Amino acid sequence: MAPRSILVTGASSGIGRALALAYAAPDVTLALIGRNEERLDAVAAAARERGAEIRLGRLDVRDQEAMARWISAQDAENPFDLVIANAGITTGLGPQDAAEDPGAVRAILGTNLLGVLNTVEPVIAPMCARKKGQLAFVGSIAGLRGLPYAPAYSAAKAAVHAYTESLRGRLEPRGVRVSLIVAGFVKTPLNDSIDGLKPFELSDVEAARLIKRGLDRDKAVIVFPWPLYFAARLARTFPVRLIDRIMGRFEVNVPATRERIP
Ligand SMILES: NC(=O)c1ccc[n+]([C@@H]2O[C@H](COP(=O)([O-])OP(=O)(O)OC[C@H]3O[C@@H](n4cnc5c(N)ncnc54)[C@H](OP(=O)(O)O)[C@@H]3O)[C@@H](O)[C@H]2O)c1
Repeated sequence: MAPRSILVTGASSGIGRALALAYAAPDVTLALIGRNEERLDAVAAAARERGAEIRLGRLDVRDQEAMARWISAQDAENPFDLVIANAGITTGLGPQDAAEDPGAVRAILGTNLLGVLNTVEPVIAPMCARKKGQLAFVGSIAGLRGLPYAPAYSAAKAAVHAYTESLRGRLEPRGVRVSLIVAGFVKTPLNDSIDGLKPFELSDVEAARLIKRGLDRDKAVIVFPWPLYFAARLARTFPVRLIDRIMGRFEVNVPATRERIP
């Protein structure tokens, strides 16, 4: 059955915004989380125009207590059928940098890993009690293999991939479906901040369509684009230093995030 009560984090921009609009329809309640009030309000207005009921959570996903309070209250009112942990930032290295700023590393782990836990932890027990629900985690091809230009980003995504796999084995026998989204390059503000080759880049609308289709079909792992995914998987079968050398040849600049642990 199509989900009627859906939570999306990072709904104020990019993939999260496109997902919110893809799911917006009459009889659907969308709980949307983000920090930027203006952008979040604009997404809410567009989703309302499509007939959806909107609940706005102007929250920082790193705030465990506020997230638990708001998500639990929404779940009590409109039990979630689908929760999409999408909010994320990026950080990395320029061609001349050797190491990431420790503050940026902690900021990205706080958002891209702890923020994901803060999103799903409040709903796991209620979904298990109802014996239904779906959890979706936005991972990345960077989570399949550490990228020399984005160590902490790759580490956070790899952790999300492992966490998703573990949850899937534990929760699916209890009636809660779990999906991992392994995304390649998607044209969004996050991706625009990165300078480098972006093979097979998709629009945010196309990415949201593929994610929604995969979730509708209950896929355990949703990957796009396939050629990049296969290349990343294949690379794992080659000697690691050979892949290091090949990746080192690409000129990539991933600016350090200015976000810091509050
Ligand atoms: N774009 C790509 O090529 C690509 C590829 C693979 C995976 N991904 C993943 O896709 C997800 C979405 O990224 P995107 O490309 O759509 O980026 P985006 O356009 O920059 O959107 C990021 C969203 O995350 C929210 N966010 C960031 N930090 C937050 C915080 N502390 N609390 C609450 N919300 C926060 C932002 O909200 P505010 O601005 O309102 O804070 C925004 O809505 C991320 O997990 C990213 O790692 C993206």
